[in-house]
This record gives sequence, structure tokens and C-alpha cells, in this order.
Amino acid sequence: MHGGLERRLRGELEQFRADGVYKRLNHLDSPQGPRVRMEGRGEVIILSSNNYLGLSGDPAVVAAGHAALDRFGAGTASVRFICGTFTIHRELEAALAELAGTEAALSFVSCWNANEALFATLLGPEDVIISDQLNHASIIDGIRLAKVITKCDTAVYRHADLGDLEAKLQAHRDRRTRLVMTDGVFSMEGDVAPLPELLALARRYDAVLVVDDSHATGVLGPNGRGTAEHFGVVGEVDVITSTLGKALGGAAGGFIAASAATCDYLTQRARPQLFSNALPCTVAGSALAAVRRLREHPALVTRLHENTRYFREQLLARGFRPLPGDTPIIPVILGETAKAIRMSEMLLDEGVFVTGFGYPVVPKGQARLRCQISAAHTREHLDRALESFQVVGRKLELV
Ligand SMILES: Cc1ncc(COP(=O)(O)O)c(C=O)c1O
Repeated sequence: MHGGLERRLRGELEQFRADGVYKRLNHLDSPQGPRVRMEGRGEVIILSSNNYLGLSGDPAVVAAGHAALDRFGAGTASVRFICGTFTIHRELEAALAELAGTEAALSFVSCWNANEALFATLLGPEDVIISDQLNHASIIDGIRLAKVITKCDTAVYRHADLGDLEAKLQAHRDRRTRLVMTDGVFSMEGDVAPLPELLALARRYDAVLVVDDSHATGVLGPNGRGTAEHFGVVGEVDVITSTLGKALGGAAGGFIAASAATCDYLTQRARPQLFSNALPCTVAGSALAAVRRLREHPALVTRLHENTRYFREQLLARGFRPLPGDTPIIPVILGETAKAIRMSEMLLDEGVFVTGFGYPVVPKGQARLRCQISAAHTREHLDRALESFQVVGRKLELV
């Protein structure tokens, strides 16, 4: 490797360590589940996974991946329009459109990829994207990319601030297309976007509303159909982007659910579709099985909601002050980054895996532990984790 670059990288890595922000990877030697086997730690309860419905290790979901691998082989060996596309992608996309309540859906190798594809393909120099301040990094980078490629204009509105959004929509009244972009569930706060109000504003200002439902698909609404179902407005959001890497099997992959024309246009023009391979068949098979499981067993979602309510209530009863909300993302604010990292390590010593997040992922002084609940957690798992929270919380004089 180039000597100068090598020295610079090593120096910066040293500094990460010195600043206490170096990320150590924990190696797991088992499928994701409510408990996992962690190298050097043995079995631990995991409260850090997006495996919201517990489907990533589900035997039917795993078997469907095997079956797809056997039937279709490892992959397309090129991009879809050049080499042909597999029938399982079509089946998956139909199932995703049905779940999201849109005419069509198009799969991508990740939701990151889907967000990058969306803005840069649909917009031009006459257009503007107006984005929530706390949107996910993939949205922020997707917008930056679009700005360079298409020369579109961009604006950011304060988090969930409808007045600020309206002012920005007013200011951009003369644009050809106004695209309002929000997460459905914000990944660090666990709060839900005010969708009915966003829809009303989008309609009043003739804007396109796009919702990234990565943390809401399989999670919100009585049937896990996402933020729109949570608010009773399925079919009204113009475009939904989401991931297959969380509730829907947890492997990888993402999708855009929208009108047939939007998906067709993306198939024609989105650079990640035109210049990169399709989702591997194993992943498509597992994700399809996960969607079917979700549609056939909404009780999974009920269980997730019950577990979430229980864990939140019990944290409060033990003197913790999680951020208010009703999603399975339950952040406990601790202040300084070092404190969040320390608490995370102490919990791991107790056999509970919860990652601490600090600056720059969250604002300075708002470092936190982000607990994530799954339908696969039993009451016993949750009670064990809560006991550990209490023990560690007392040691750190938090409760
Ligand atoms: C809101 C949001 N959008 C997009 C992504 C990226 O999803 P993927 O892992 O499919 O790229 C994530 C993942 O953390 C997310 O939380």
C-alpha cells in the first residue's frame, strides 16, 4: 500500500482509539435471534438488532433461500436488462407492492442503493428535494449524489417541523417538482414522521411525498404494512423506499414501491439498475418467504407491539427515561459518548448486547443506548435484560 496513505490511516485509527470512538466489531457464531452466540462472550441477549419479526433465522425463510439458490443458481451474472432477470424477482416485487399498497415495486441490492437511485433518476435542474434534518445517511448521501448528477436544488427542514417545511415548500413554489423526503421511523430517535400532516402539505403544495420505511416495514400498523398503515393512509404515499435487511428476513436488499410508471422509469434509467447486478436469488427467496409469513401471520406484529410496550413500561418503572414513542426503537439518553460506551460494555458483561451511539451519529451530549425489541423476544429475555439494566443503571448511578 502507498506509504503516505498507510501512515495517515494508521494515525487516524490511533486517534479514534484515543478519542474513545473506535468501533470494535463483535463476532457472532449463530444466526440472529433473541439470543446470539458471541465470540468470547458465549450466549447473550441481543437488543441491538433490526430483526424485528425474528425472521432472519426462521426455518421457512432460510429454507426458501436454499430453494431459490438451488433453482436459480448464485445470480444473474450481469445486470437485469442485459442478462435476463429471474422470475423470483418479479414475484418478490409483486409481493412488496401488495404489502406497501402501491401499483408496483422494484428491488435493489440495498435500500442505500435504492435511495441513491431514486433522486438522481427522477429529478433535474428544475426540481428541489426538501428533506427532514434527521433523515438517514443513505438519504443524505443520495441527495448529495443527485445534486451533483442532476443539478437539482436541495433544502433541509427542521426535524418534523411542519411550519418550516411549509415555508420551504412556499419558497420553492415555482419549481417543476417539489419532492419531500422523510424517514417513516427515525432510526436514532424511534419517533414516527407526522405522515397525515406531511401528506396534507404535499397535496397543498403539489409535492411528491417519499417515505423511507426501512424501520417501519413489518413493524408499524396492525399488519406491519408500515407508516401509512399506522396512520390509516395506505395507498396515499407517492413513493416508499424500504429495506429487506431488517424485518423482512434481514439479509440485505431494498426496494422502491411506487406507481407502475415510476418503477418502469427507474428500470429504464436508474444507474444502479442499468450498471449493477440484481439482488441475489437466495436473498430474494428469503425475503419473499418473509413477506408471505408477515401477510399470513399478523400476530407476529401484534407480538412485536406487545413486547415493545412491555419493555418501555418496565424501563420507566425502573427509573430510566427512554425517549417517548411507540416504536420498537427505544433510545435511553445518557449524555456523553464515553458513558454510552461504558454502559454498553457493562451490559455486555451482564450478557446483554445493546450498542451505544455517540457523536457524530447523534448530536453532542445526546449519546444513547438504542434498545431494539423483536417479536422473537420472550418475556423471560426481556425481564433478564431489564434486570441487567437495573444492575448497571445503579452502578452508574442513573437510577
Ligand atoms: C432509514 C434507513 N434507510 C436506509 C437504510 C439502509 O438500508 P440497507 O441496509 O438496505 O442499505 C437504513 C439502514 O440502516 C435505514 O435505517
